[in-house]
Amino acid sequence: MPELIPGLAGVPAAESAVSFIDGQKGLLAYRGHPIQVLAERSTFQEVAWLLLYGTLPKRAEFDGFREQLGTRREIPERMYDVIRALPGNGHPMDALQACMASLGMFSRHTDFRDASTADEAITRILAAMPVMVAAFDRIRGGEDVVPPRPELDTAANFLWMLTGEEPDELAARVLDVALILHADHTMNASTFAARVVASTEADPYTVVSSAIGALTGPLHGGANERVLDQLRDIGEAESVEAWVDGQVAAKKKIMGFGHRVYKVKDPRADILQGLAIDLFEKLGRTPLYDTAVTLEDEVVKRLGDKGIHPNVDFYSGIVYSKLQIPIDLFTPVFAMARTAGWLAHWREQMVDNKIFRPAQVYAGVHDAEYVPIDER
Ligand code: SDX
Repeated sequence: MPELIPGLAGVPAAESAVSFIDGQKGLLAYRGHPIQVLAERSTFQEVAWLLLYGTLPKRAEFDGFREQLGTRREIPERMYDVIRALPGNGHPMDALQACMASLGMFSRHTDFRDASTADEAITRILAAMPVMVAAFDRIRGGEDVVPPRPELDTAANFLWMLTGEEPDELAARVLDVALILHADHTMNASTFAARVVASTEADPYTVVSSAIGALTGPLHGGANERVLDQLRDIGEAESVEAWVDGQVAAKKKIMGFGHRVYKVKDPRADILQGLAIDLFEKLGRTPLYDTAVTLEDEVVKRLGDKGIHPNVDFYSGIVYSKLQIPIDLFTPVFAMARTAGWLAHWREQMVDNKIFRPAQVYAGVHDAEYVPIDER
């Protein structure tokens, strides 16, 4: 009888060349490129191509990809009717999942095994994600939808669609780097969900819609908005020590800390912390940042030996709130970026697919007797 491994911890679910993590050394690389180099020298759109097709794009490849990402932001007009029909007080991740599934309905009966058809779907999905997130936010706020601008890159266009104002150059660059940092991360829960659904030969819209659902949970992508709530609950840096003592005593999970693979500080947290500081120099300091730094020190002091360190979600919320992105859009922003990784894993799964159908350890009864209802 095979042994049950809770959460499949450490159990390889697939062979992949998309990204690599060394959890002890705190290393992350996309197709062999260290994340620090990509954050410094690349853009989200170039990184999306790298993840999807395996190498950095040549100039002509990139120009074509970028042009498609721009023009394919034009989603079917009826999608805006779908978005208007959604409950405005619902969570934007639920709206995004509903929108992605709805968008796929416009491409039904399409053979995605054809490479050019698959490539077109990839750019349509990548282009539509930010458009649908921003449109839901504008519509729930009773504001006119801001039409996308094909000439802007993904981050700048998203900020434009959120506010209708020309995006600040530093803000757009910071968001673009944050999208790079969130684009892929080996076999995390939402990517695993994507591969499971991909293995059934479902279409890429359904694959992404399923992965959005997995990312929503507070133990995964949903942690980033909870980190900011947590910092606001703590308040001043002086309150951190007592708060951490309380959490540890109650054995409660502290949002933004811990990781299944990293047993040191998540390298993405380091880069996001630096981006926050860059923003403070131009836009002023966020008081919660001092609370966050103190929280990191106090948690690591107590739990660092157990491998509990800040993860990607710990500083991202401070960056996003500095960019004036609403707190419940933090996880949709994560999803916008991770769509590049999910689609890269969809392509990889289709190359040598075998449907996921794991075993189980049966813990139930056998030969149960059916007793008539009035005799139970
Ligand atoms: C993401 O997988 C990925 O790559 C995900 C991600 C990505 O890019 O896709 O990196 C993005 O999801 C980051 C994680 C965001 N989630 C949070 O910040 C929520 C808080 N973190 C924890 O829920 C937890 O650390 C997980 C879910 C991230 C990891 O869970 P594991 O690997 O299953 O670890 P565990 O829950 O079994 O904990 C092991 C021990 C336990 O103590 P003991 O029972 O052994 O005494 O560590 C403790 C836990 O109580 N622990 C924590 C803790 N995380 C683990 N204690 C306090 N606070 C925490 N955050």
